[in-house]
Amino acid sequence: MHFTSRFGSLLLFAGLAISSPVATPTEPDPSQAVSVELNGQTFINKGLVAFGLIPSNATESTGDTIGGIGSAIAFKRGTFMSNTDGTFSGTLTVQPDRGFNVDGTVDYQGRQFDIDFVLTPYYGTADLSFDDALQTLSLTYIRTLLYTERNDTKTTGLDALAVRAADSGFPQDPTADPPLPIPSQSFNRLTLDCEGLVLNADGTFWMSDEYGPYIYRFASDGSLIQVISPPDAILPMVKNKLNFTSMNDPDTGRAGNQGFEGLTVSPNGNTLFALLQSATIQDGGNKKSTSRFTRLLSYDVSDLTVETPALIGEWVVPLPQDSSGDTLAQSEMHFISENVFFVLARDANGHGGNSDTSAYKQADLIDISGATDIHDTEFDDPSNPIASKGKLDKSITPALYVPFVNFINNTQLARFGLHNGSPADQTLIDAKWESLALAPVNDPANPNDYFLFTAADNDFLSTQGVFNGMSFNAGLDNDNQFLVFRVTLPTVTAGSVQEAIGI
Ligand SMILES: *[C@@H]1O[C@H](CO)[C@@H](O)[C@H](O)[C@H]1NC(C)=O
Ligand SMILES: *[C@@H]1O[C@H](CO)[C@@H](O)[C@H](O)[C@H]1NC(C)=O
Ligand SMILES: *[C@@H]1O[C@H](CO)[C@@H](O)[C@H](O)[C@H]1NC(C)=O
Ligand SMILES: *[C@@H]1O[C@H](CO)[C@@H](O)[C@H](O)[C@H]1NC(C)=O
Repeated sequence: MHFTSRFGSLLLFAGLAISSPVATPTEPDPSQAVSVELNGQTFINKGLVAFGLIPSNATESTGDTIGGIGSAIAFKRGTFMSNTDGTFSGTLTVQPDRGFNVDGTVDYQGRQFDIDFVLTPYYGTADLSFDDALQTLSLTYIRTLLYTERNDTKTTGLDALAVRAADSGFPQDPTADPPLPIPSQSFNRLTLDCEGLVLNADGTFWMSDEYGPYIYRFASDGSLIQVISPPDAILPMVKNKLNFTSMNDPDTGRAGNQGFEGLTVSPNGNTLFALLQSATIQDGGNKKSTSRFTRLLSYDVSDLTVETPALIGEWVVPLPQDSSGDTLAQSEMHFISENVFFVLARDANGHGGNSDTSAYKQADLIDISGATDIHDTEFDDPSNPIASKGKLDKSITPALYVPFVNFINNTQLARFGLHNGSPADQTLIDAKWESLALAPVNDPANPNDYFLFTAADNDFLSTQGVFNGMSFNAGLDNDNQFLVFRVTLPTVTAGSVQEAIGI
């Protein structure tokens, strides 16, 4: 399957020939550039350079609808290539969250897909048609890898109504149904709401989730190896007991559906970073008006034989707020250089979202070099909030937060046949952008230029959906959209982005 257009490849080929004359520029037009300063360094957004999609009704090898894939994306190690014709190609590993769950959670096994891409950056200032724009990032589904846990049991996406006892190196974990009385062995299953993904050099991968919120490591065949459980301050507790349901907020710890959306690693694979979507309950996370102070954790994962990686850092990240003071929660982070990261913060408007008009969807910058490290302090105990009712404790300096790449710039969207606001058609930008990946441009004149890939979680919204052999109609066709920006990142150490993606 080659997901480039609804209209087939012949017509597309003709379209490309018409709208991409020989004069198409091979470098970004300076008029596209928007710069910001972070600690005296200039970061530049050189504009949107590609757009692609996987249609809402596409299916994968299990027969299920391909959906939710923008929950996490990562370059499959060693695959990213610059081609002599000016294109770039490779494979993205993408990870959906927990299946079509608009009417309640479903028994969706955790999984990831490999998707081949060809990137043909478009640097022109003229507006492409939507169908021509789709030529700039073609995406081809390749394969599915399903996740299993202990005893070779399938994971599920059903709400985490039960807690399974800690056992053989695994912490107490979220399961789908009460284990006693045992209704059926098959329902005492680990439940996952997969959000973050980091691919390791040894073929294993880290996945961060929203129920725990935990960080899991799987082998290359998709079987669970180990689990990292966060400090008590983050674990969801009801009446002093773990309670992983996403339906209600706990008394302390992560709020419902506000788990580890962000996961990234240092280029050498030694330090893993996880970022909570918004504040814990004790830190103001029970209300959008007080939930901006979220926590970033780091773990030493330099030795993958260590069963319980050590927490080595913890910082407070002040999330942006909308015009009414509500927190714009984050959906992903990505390592840039020591102490500097992207954070993707956004509203829930756009195609498939609450309303058509988005006000904030950005890959912003944070710098933790001046922030207070609170790991292993009293703040790791839920009775000592960092920000009671959303007021940050005076002893804590949060990360520096600088707005950067705006996904909903109308000039940029129009160049790719896209728009923000009504009408809610196929060319409306998706609501839920939740992933980031970085690759080198390999331009000797601009050695610090990188491609920033991002993809949306379409919530499996399809009028022709399929799950476990049954069809479903979500009432809307919301494609899995992808965007690629070109950015200048002055702090990146030469070769580190290449090291991170194994090229
Ligand atoms: C939108 O992008 C254009 C370049 O295409 C830039 O000049 C403008 O400042 C951007 N607007 C915002 C609000 O970032
Ligand atoms: C998706 O829908 C389009 C338009 O209705 C149709 O042409 C195409 O065959 C469908 N694809 C799949 C995989 O069902
Ligand atoms: C794995 O199977 C063994 C033997 O049936 C059982 O005792 C154990 O509880 C199972 N572990 C899990 C996590 O289901
Ligand atoms: C979790 O808390 C909810 C109330 O929010 C309660 O109804 C449920 O029984 C608790 N689950 C467990 C496993 O204790």
